[in-house]
Amino acid sequence: MTKLSMKILSIETSCDDTAITLMEVKGNINNTSFKILANFSNSQIKIHAPYGGVFPMLAKREHIKNLPVLLEKVLKCAKSNFSQIDLIAVTYGPGLEPALWTGIVFAKELAEKYKIPVIPVNHMEGHIMSPFGKHKGKFVINLKKNMFPMLALLVSGGHTELVLMKNFGKYEIIGKTLDDAAGEAYDKVARMMDLPYPGGPKISKLAEKLRKTKLLHEGNIAQRDGASIAIRQQADMRVESVQQLGFSLPRPMLYSKNFDFSFSGLKTAVLYLIKKIGPLNEEIKLKIALEFENAVVETLIYKTIKAKEKYKVKTIIVAGGVALNKHLQREMKKAVGKNIKLLFPEKELTGDNSIMIGIAGYLQYIKNKGKIFKLSKIKANGNLRLGRKS
Ligand code: KG4
Ligand code: ZN
Repeated sequence: MTKLSMKILSIETSCDDTAITLMEVKGNINNTSFKILANFSNSQIKIHAPYGGVFPMLAKREHIKNLPVLLEKVLKCAKSNFSQIDLIAVTYGPGLEPALWTGIVFAKELAEKYKIPVIPVNHMEGHIMSPFGKHKGKFVINLKKNMFPMLALLVSGGHTELVLMKNFGKYEIIGKTLDDAAGEAYDKVARMMDLPYPGGPKISKLAEKLRKTKLLHEGNIAQRDGASIAIRQQADMRVESVQQLGFSLPRPMLYSKNFDFSFSGLKTAVLYLIKKIGPLNEEIKLKIALEFENAVVETLIYKTIKAKEKYKVKTIIVAGGVALNKHLQREMKKAVGKNIKLLFPEKELTGDNSIMIGIAGYLQYIKNKGKIFKLSKIKANGNLRLGRKS
């Protein structure tokens, strides 16, 4: 059974961030209080940057190096020791398997040595819960019945999914990317334009710069907003782009009947465009960034709004690294309208972090009435999907 108040150590190593949190938690699934006691992480962005993406074996090596250092910092900062930890939550998938195993092995070693139960956490469930958390201090999560169904648009470097949540722990993936993730497309297009990794923030900065200039002042691109994206015709959008920029890019799968995405064709369209144009000057880089970002954001919004209407959702969550995108945030707000709750995580909880793993871990723990997992059963699963067992 669950204790009144618990201390949870949560560990995240699914990709290129090593993160450990210690939090104090109490309450039930409808009213849970959290207090962050200590939270430390280590980003490997600089190490992977020369490869233009995350290099799994390097990530593994870094996690192994970082984990004990972070743990020591966490315990010191929280003035805690192992005898006070009641539960360890660790990400077991999806992600890079060599990276996932480092966190799992680390968690199991601690569990065996100090006799602490371990709860395996789905990284995507963590992202879904991330808007409910805070990166420091105290917060309360109150998942009320009238907030469901929820719809989560999960957009990162590894994932692009639309997840329907009928209740906490009850998931259905209603749409997913058939090829590249949205963040991955940003990263690849940035590389084509000689911009450093990760490309999302760089492209977004260029696009924002052009949006604010007088260059687009009288045109429709600058004024095209979220509220109209869901009903716009792709052909109209592309005509406007050609009028103002001299070219246009496809909004992939906009009119497919399902909620799937595809970004690889868009990426190839950028490649052909760059080949056709030849050496890129600053002005054309701004234009490509703008049109590419518009194409990605319009596609994400269009599908999210269609899903919202079909499933009559009450709450929309946007999470994962791409949720930091200003244009996506702004236009999604307009598209969603006033009657729906729209939630984005705090900046610190948008990318991969261990706070979201602690939250999802604890909620699963109480949902499962304190079920203890056999350590030998906890294994990394790079392709783990939400909703398989629930
Ligand atoms: O969630 P995350 O930190 O790591 C995983 O992929 O799991 O997401 C990183 C991704 C990268 O592809 C990065 O380019 C993208 O999120 N990203 C952005 C922005 N900030 C980060 N994409 C678009 N606009 C941004 N502002
Ligand atoms: Zn992630």
